Amino acid sequence: MKVKTAEFVISNTRVDMCPKPSIPEYAFIGRSNVGKSSLINSMCNNKKLAKTSSTPGKTQLINHFIINNDWYLVDLPGYGFTKTPVHLKQKWMNFTRNYLRHRENLMCVFVLLDSRHNVQKVDDEFMEWLGDNGIPFVMVFTKMDKLDPRDIEGNIQAYQDKMSEKWSFLPQHFLTSSEKKEGNEEILKFIEETSKGFVKPVDDRF
Ligand code: GTP
Ligand code: MG
Repeated sequence: MKVKTAEFVISNTRVDMCPKPSIPEYAFIGRSNVGKSSLINSMCNNKKLAKTSSTPGKTQLINHFIINNDWYLVDLPGYGFTKTPVHLKQKWMNFTRNYLRHRENLMCVFVLLDSRHNVQKVDDEFMEWLGDNGIPFVMVFTKMDKLDPRDIEGNIQAYQDKMSEKWSFLPQHFLTSSEKKEGNEEILKFIEETSKGFVKPVDDRF
C-alpha cells in the first residue's frame, strides 16, 4: 500500500469523542521517546504530521490521522518515563487504556520497543495487560539504525526468549528505522491485509 494522503483529524482524551468508528484503526504505543510519532511520520512521508521531540513526553493526547481516506492511524502518549509527574502519567495511562479497551474499530495495536534494549518491565507488563484484555497487538522494534548490525539478531532473539517464558504464542514483529525508512512497507502491507477483516460496527450513527 502506498500512502497517498495523510491528514490530522482530531486530538482528545475521550474515546467517545474519537471519530466515528466506520473505518479500520491502528494505534502506536510504547515507552516515551521510543519513536512512535517518528515512525508515523516516516510511514506517511511527512516529517511534520505527528509532533516529535528528543525530550520524552511529547505526545500527550489520542491523536487521529486519516490515511488515504480509508483508515485511521493513532498516535498515543508514551508510558514509563520516570521524569513525568506521577499524576500526569496516571492520567495519560487511564485515558489511553480506556481508549484501547473500548475503541470498536481498533484492528491492532503496534507496541514499539527500542531495539537496543532487552525486555523492560513496563513493556512486559503493558503487553500482558493487552493480552489479558484480548486486544490484538504486534511488536515493532525501533531505531534499528542505532544498533550494530551484528547485534540485531541476538537482541531480537533475547526478546523472544524472554517473552516465550510467559507467552505460548509470540506476536508478529517488525524491524524498523524511521531515519532509514526501514520496515514501513512491511507495516503498511500488514495493515492492508488486516483491514480486509474489518467489519463495520453496527451503529445507527452511520
Ligand atoms: P513521546 O511522544 O514523548 O512518547 O515519544 P515518541 O515515542 O513519539 O518518540 P519520537 O518519535 O518523538 O522520537 C523520540 C526521539 O527519537 C526523537 O529525537 C527522534 O528523532 C528519535 N528517533 C525516533 N525514531 C528514530 C529512528 O528510527 N532512528 C533514530 N536514530 N532516531 C529516532
Ligand atoms: Mg510521540
